[in-house]
Amino acid sequence: MYSIADLQTIIAQTLLQRDFPTEPSNLYDPIRYFLSIGGKRLRPVLTLLATDLFGEKIEKSLSAALAIEVFHNFTLMHDDIMDEAPLRRGKDTVHKKWDTNTAILSGDAMMITSYQLLSKSQTDNLSEVLHIFSKMALEVCEGQQLDMDFGNSPSVTEEDYLQMIRLKTSVLLGAALEIGALIAGANPKDRKLLYEFGVNMGIAFQLQDDLLDIYGDPKKFGKQIGGDIIENKKTFLLINAIRLTKGKEEEKELKGWIKRHANYNVDEKINAITSIYNKYGIKTLAEEKKSFFSDQAFQALEKIDVPANRKQVLITFTKGLFVRES
Ligand code: IPE
Ligand code: IPE
Ligand code: MG
Ligand code: MG
Ligand code: MG
Repeated sequence: MYSIADLQTIIAQTLLQRDFPTEPSNLYDPIRYFLSIGGKRLRPVLTLLATDLFGEKIEKSLSAALAIEVFHNFTLMHDDIMDEAPLRRGKDTVHKKWDTNTAILSGDAMMITSYQLLSKSQTDNLSEVLHIFSKMALEVCEGQQLDMDFGNSPSVTEEDYLQMIRLKTSVLLGAALEIGALIAGANPKDRKLLYEFGVNMGIAFQLQDDLLDIYGDPKKFGKQIGGDIIENKKTFLLINAIRLTKGKEEEKELKGWIKRHANYNVDEKINAITSIYNKYGIKTLAEEKKSFFSDQAFQALEKIDVPANRKQVLITFTKGLFVRES
């Protein structure tokens, strides 16, 4: 049985040992930088845990796990450009430290690297692994497009939001688990259940991320607090605030802030919108929704046909993610 810390160390060390070329330095230095500034490494840990769950050696899925982490970091590098984010893991984002073109191309190189790693997976089912991964990767792009489209749309519903985060965030957690299970030789039924576990976990995980954007401790979160508010992201919080203030005095205030694109004080906007969230109990609503999806996740996990004690690490790890602070 492995501890989570052991698995995180295996991932981090193997990633950092990877020999990226030195030249052109402006292509590879940002990759080395981004992979070295930390991160929870949760997706590759899920892949390894999934392999372990079905009694196979984790070494078999190590390359796929690394592929998933490199892919995740590629999406973050581009996401930070799209979200105009200055901070990631408490450090400058790549487009700030270098520039946007650098972040685009280094991100592209990471995506290609992730496919190289994936193709080295130790499995007889490589085409199936590639199929799951590519389907997921396109879905992440779809989710990211919806995330941007929603910024300019006045009528985004909670259902739209849930579909958007399922695509931009959750399918990657689902695929990380499913690939680990596939490499371990799990049967299709259990693989699907594990995917379902991951997708529901991912929805709760993104809800927690939306909450931390407002209520997180800047020292622990490592990202700019209020970044979603500045960008008018249609998070669970904002959608519900728009819904609940309808016809109330805060409706105009909220809409006024959303319309304002320039010449405003960022802190004033963040404070004003946070006050509305607080007044309308939006945090509790988000916590309740998070619990709903976490329950869904654990129900799927329960149905998987392996002894309960083998699932314990996965359960403990997942519970920690739902109350994470970074
Ligand atoms: C950030 O993911 C992107 C989201 C889906 C919210 P993580 O919170 O897993 O980021 P790192 O890798 O630990 O920095
Ligand atoms: C991240 O969503 C989803 C992807 C990167 C695909 P966010 O934009 O909320 O993630 P953070 O908050 O920047 O980590
Ligand atoms: Mg972002
Ligand atoms: Mg984003
Ligand atoms: Mg976020």
